[in-house]
Amino acid sequence: MSQQRTPLIAGNWKMNGRLEDGAERAEDLAGRMQAKGGGGFQMLLCPPATLLTAVGAAIADSGIFLGAQDCHFNDSGAHTGDISAAMLADLGCSHVIVGHSERRADHGENDALVNAKAAAAIAAGLIAIVCVGETEAQRDAGETNQVVAGQARGSVPDGANAGNLVIAYEPVWAIGTGRTPTAAEVQAVHAMIRATMAGITNDQTAAGCRILYGGSVKPGNAAELLSLADVDGGLVGGASLSADDFWAIATAAG
Ligand code: PGA
Repeated sequence: MSQQRTPLIAGNWKMNGRLEDGAERAEDLAGRMQAKGGGGFQMLLCPPATLLTAVGAAIADSGIFLGAQDCHFNDSGAHTGDISAAMLADLGCSHVIVGHSERRADHGENDALVNAKAAAAIAAGLIAIVCVGETEAQRDAGETNQVVAGQARGSVPDGANAGNLVIAYEPVWAIGTGRTPTAAEVQAVHAMIRATMAGITNDQTAAGCRILYGGSVKPGNAAELLSLADVDGGLVGGASLSADDFWAIATAAG
């Protein structure tokens, strides 16, 4: 973590939750956030689209941010089942995740599509959280840096800056598995991403842009991961479904 970049602790609820438990968890976190009275980190909840309104109501005035898990690259039109970034902004979202590896794998999303989605998010006034990360086979082949830098180059849109873009490094093999890279490996990849960002954008953006780590972040490993120089927060899946665990992770950041 750096002095310059406020840590962002983001909960990616994925396809989990119903109105009752979703709102309850959000209210629980809102209460803790209000009691804490702000401070060392920003908190973001990214529930499924069905829960955005209820979670948004539950966290109103708490300082917790609301985000979505995906968006379309067009503003409106004939795209059955899709939701645009402008619609998310209309609902009170401030952030949207794009290019999560589960979208890349389940929906065949490539860097060009992720880039278009991130551009649409930024145009709608949202902060785009662009996900990158290597598979286990790529890691075993020693291709981590090449893959991750390539995804960043392909997925970060023109006009991205430290205020409208967050990168999430999520090794695919670490997601939901309980396995993580070592702290030294995480730091090395994050530093490499920051150097790549300097090439894609400029030094100022690279220095200010937050790079989150995601993949089996838990209360037990959060303090170590979040203390790394180029780790500016976490994108938390499974552990964000427990208010206690998510809060423990967040408070490890500050
Ligand atoms: P996990 O998921 O924390 O359950 O590993 C992280 C993510 O996919 O964002």
